[in-house]
Amino acid sequence: MKKWILKAVVQKTISYLPFSTRINYFFQKYVTKGVYLSDEYFYDRLGHAKDHLAAYAKYGEKKLPSVCLELGTGWYPIVPIGFFLAGVDKTYSVDISFLTSKERIKTTLDKFKIAIDKDILKGYINIQAERLQELMKLYDTYDALPLEEILSILKIEYLLQDARKLSLADNSIDLVNSNNTFEHIYPVILQPIVAEFGRVVKKNSGVQSHFIDMSDHFAHFDRSITIYNFLQFSEAQWARIDNSIQPQSRLRIDDYKAMYKAIDLSIDEEFCRPGNLEELKTVKLDKVFADKPIETVAISHCHFISKM
Ligand SMILES: C[S@@+](CC[C@H](N)C(=O)[O-])C[C@H]1O[C@@H](n2cnc3c(N)ncnc32)[C@H](O)[C@@H]1O
Repeated sequence: MKKWILKAVVQKTISYLPFSTRINYFFQKYVTKGVYLSDEYFYDRLGHAKDHLAAYAKYGEKKLPSVCLELGTGWYPIVPIGFFLAGVDKTYSVDISFLTSKERIKTTLDKFKIAIDKDILKGYINIQAERLQELMKLYDTYDALPLEEILSILKIEYLLQDARKLSLADNSIDLVNSNNTFEHIYPVILQPIVAEFGRVVKKNSGVQSHFIDMSDHFAHFDRSITIYNFLQFSEAQWARIDNSIQPQSRLRIDDYKAMYKAIDLSIDEEFCRPGNLEELKTVKLDKVFADKPIETVAISHCHFISKM
């Protein structure tokens, strides 16, 4: 049996259990090794932090946002810590589950420390000297501090809530961002979330910046399948394979664009990876995808920037 099928079966089973996100963390940590913070993952998200800040500098009203909101915290708060080092005053990170921990933030800081020591970080973030000092002090005193204080020093506030209804005031956020999160939220929930972002982001001066990974995430773990493997399944088949702990909506770029249009949100700049047409041609697509232009289906990643 292919590795990805085994993973799908195990995650589907876990998704029916109580404490499924915790169990999934240990499954991914000890079996699939999917939660290990690799250099590839760390520098990918650091690249996102850099691109979000560049998007704001280009389309926002100031050089640097003061208040940011991130959708989908994940295990390692790389983007919020990058924002802290750049001098952002506050980053809210919203998620329906609390996935990070003191241990995982320490793992993240270890990566930052290496990037600082090797002088790599300044290629990504325009580091404020004062913030660097604060980070180093935090690093040295880390073990003695409670999680709440660590987050407060890093100017991160977690919002454990549904992003469709945020506990944030209208026009209070300079930069809304997300990192490989849209693809995990089905459109019936995602569209109201993005509409809610329209309420909290500052009108006429705020920016939204979202990275979307449209590849089949099972292919990240099982190299024997392509990033288009999941497009062979009908909606009914996919509903049986997909799971609630790490769902994948399979939306393509045209679906996201239609969603933006439906809520009257402009896309002022987009950077897309065209994907691989030869690989796509090896997959017998389900009708839903076969009816779309092949170049549209092939696009594997995109960064959408919207000026409010
Ligand atoms: C793949 S994870 C985030 C990945 C992370 N940003 C990264 O860089 O690796 C997607 C997250 O979206 C969260 N999520 C799903 N629906 C949500 C909702 N309605 N409101 C807030 N968060 C939600 C999930 O709990 C999950 O933690």
